[in-house]
Amino acid sequence: MSRLLVTGGAGFIGSNFVRYLVERTDHSVIVLDKLTYAGNLASIEDLPAERVRFVRGDIADAGLVDGLVGELDGEHDAIVHYAAESHNDNSLSDPRPFLDTNVIGTYTLIEAARRRGTRFHHISTDEVYGDLELGDPARFTESTPYNPSSPYSSTKAASDLLVRAWVRSFGLRATISNCSNNYGPYQHVEKFIPRQITNVLRGVRPKLYGRGENVRDWIHADDHSSAVLAILERGRIGETYLIGADGERSNREVVELILEAMGHPRDDYDLVPDRPGHDLRYAIDSTKLRDELGWTPRFRDFESGLRATVDWYRANESWWAPQKDSAEARYAELGR
Ligand code: NAD
Ligand code: DAU
Repeated sequence: MSRLLVTGGAGFIGSNFVRYLVERTDHSVIVLDKLTYAGNLASIEDLPAERVRFVRGDIADAGLVDGLVGELDGEHDAIVHYAAESHNDNSLSDPRPFLDTNVIGTYTLIEAARRRGTRFHHISTDEVYGDLELGDPARFTESTPYNPSSPYSSTKAASDLLVRAWVRSFGLRATISNCSNNYGPYQHVEKFIPRQITNVLRGVRPKLYGRGENVRDWIHADDHSSAVLAILERGRIGETYLIGADGERSNREVVELILEAMGHPRDDYDLVPDRPGHDLRYAIDSTKLRDELGWTPRFRDFESGLRATVDWYRANESWWAPQKDSAEARYAELGR
């Protein structure tokens, strides 16, 4: 049995990974999370205290981080780094927290890992590669050049490059994964799919940016977690793995599926002003992860995964309702 320090473990994907570890492994977990507007203890509070210890704090706090990394066994334990400012729209309104957390926070963690010789896995995003043309057969691979578009994706790109440099210069025992868009339960209502589901639940029409033609490559958060565990257990140090489940859909298609699943006409949505610099299309080629580590996604049917997600938001209004008004107030300021 080993111990994992999971940063951002009260967020959407980090909490999914913590739950995944508790249900499918013997590892114990220390969650380090600042509980920003995006963190929610309710996402992990049902997990057993003997397996999951929660520490509220900032990944950019070097003293706190060094103390927690010092509790780990340098040989068998690991840091899995999810914590980030994660929303593009917010990064366009106020980039500063993205630099503090995504760049300085990651730097603080890898410095602690370097000093203690601790295994490190860095969670990143396909957005570091920029975007692809609509209708182009090309997909991102591990050798696609970095070309980020937004303050969010540029700070994630910077954090990836820091990790790569620490591997080469200091021998940091690190791996990196870049995943496509996640969906599933416990996702903050500012994000596309939960925003539309909870809008419909409140009697508000879904909001599509621009013409709704942008394409995202959807993967269930459980499949992201199983991929990260495979990389932690069997990934080669210094390597990057792209994670994706062949889930390309236009935003318009996704909204139509949500409306259909919720018993509304498929065209019952509004077009709203586009996001500045809006990336057109993301698509992942995950051949390396599948061939080298034998990983495959479990959720292969996006439509049924989406219907289950709709059901979860319907059944868990007490989880999302406290975030909804403030998220919509931020969108109202942006006219979206
Ligand atoms: P999220 O916004 O839901 O959660 C982020 C968590 O990090 C929150 O719990 C927040 O409180 C915490 N946090 C923020 N700043 C912190 C700080 N300074 N110190 C400690 N904790 C802090 O994000 P998410 O969607 O779960 O994304 C998690 C990670 O996965 C991010 O690194 C993101 O870049 C990456 N990622 C996300 C997606 C996606 O589709 N959501 C896809 C690929 C990669
Ligand atoms: O690709 C991985 C990335 O996916 C992660 O790195 C990010 O953390 C995560 O937020 C996500 O980024 P996107 O910008 O793709 O996700 P978002 O949910 O904000 O938007 C998805 C798409 O839907 C995007 O094309 C914008 C559009 N959109 C979004 C909202 C909130 C709408 O059309 N209407 C909306 O109301």
